[in-house]
Amino acid sequence: MIRIGFYGSDVDIDLWRAALKTRLPSFEIARLLDDAGQQCDVALVWAPPPGALSDCANLLGIIMQGQGVDHMMRDETVPRSVPLVRLVDPDMSNALSHWAILCALDFWRDADHYRTAQADRRWDPRPQRTATGGQVGILGTGAIGSVIASRFAALGFSVRGFARSERHIEGVEMFAGGDQLAAFADGLDIVVSVLPLTPDTTGIINADFLARMSARAFVINGGRGPQIVDDDLLAALDSGHIGGAALDVFAVEPLPQDHRYWTHPSVRVWPHVAAQTNADTAADQVAAAIISMMDGQVPANMVDWSRGY
Ligand code: GLV
Repeated sequence: MIRIGFYGSDVDIDLWRAALKTRLPSFEIARLLDDAGQQCDVALVWAPPPGALSDCANLLGIIMQGQGVDHMMRDETVPRSVPLVRLVDPDMSNALSHWAILCALDFWRDADHYRTAQADRRWDPRPQRTATGGQVGILGTGAIGSVIASRFAALGFSVRGFARSERHIEGVEMFAGGDQLAAFADGLDIVVSVLPLTPDTTGIINADFLARMSARAFVINGGRGPQIVDDDLLAALDSGHIGGAALDVFAVEPLPQDHRYWTHPSVRVWPHVAAQTNADTAADQVAAAIISMMDGQVPANMVDWSRGY
């Protein structure tokens, strides 16, 4: 019998119980901060409060309910000696690519303008942007970013990808490492970040990056909030150099009530919903990770503590 300690503040534990039932021989699942959860062998968590795992004495491993692991990196009490596994679920790559494409095309085809015009009963055509020529840049070309890059390419956009190290994606011009960031940013019409949060990616979309993008460019962030220097983005939006932004992630979540993003006419605020975890599609991977941990094997999609993702 394996005991799973569960944390996820808005997540339904019963959905996971049902999803794992057909995939694991025998298990118990209980909320981590309740007494029963503290006895767990494996933790299945999303953004647990700092220290939530510190009483779990015999932990075999930790499995994330999502892709990002930045909250675990920040918590010094999370044991570095046990495997930490992140979810790599094609369903999430699909969802995030749909969201990025939705935001990009909404901007590219001036949907805001036509919504306002309709509200005013105004027939007000604008020149259409080219259906072939937009330059899109994807920051982060791992499991999610590579899918997004290929799909933008299939829509006819010219696509660049930026990654930490060299890799190949069919039809995508690749840039690798900090030295190539400026060349990647030069002339982008749309940037999409799906990067993990690490010291290298913090503040990567800053005044210099934004100044390199083309006039009236669009910024889409589905990575992590601190990748954008908010004051720099707001200044670029105010000056009109950046035409708009769709943001799903923020330095502080929920986005504070008094934040300027809420009311900025060129900003679309999404409450971290671009790709929500689907217990049904993720359960195979979670069950496989648990079985590996029980057998003392190395599970797939382990996080590298030194790399930060
Ligand atoms: C969501 O933000 C995730 O990291 O999975």
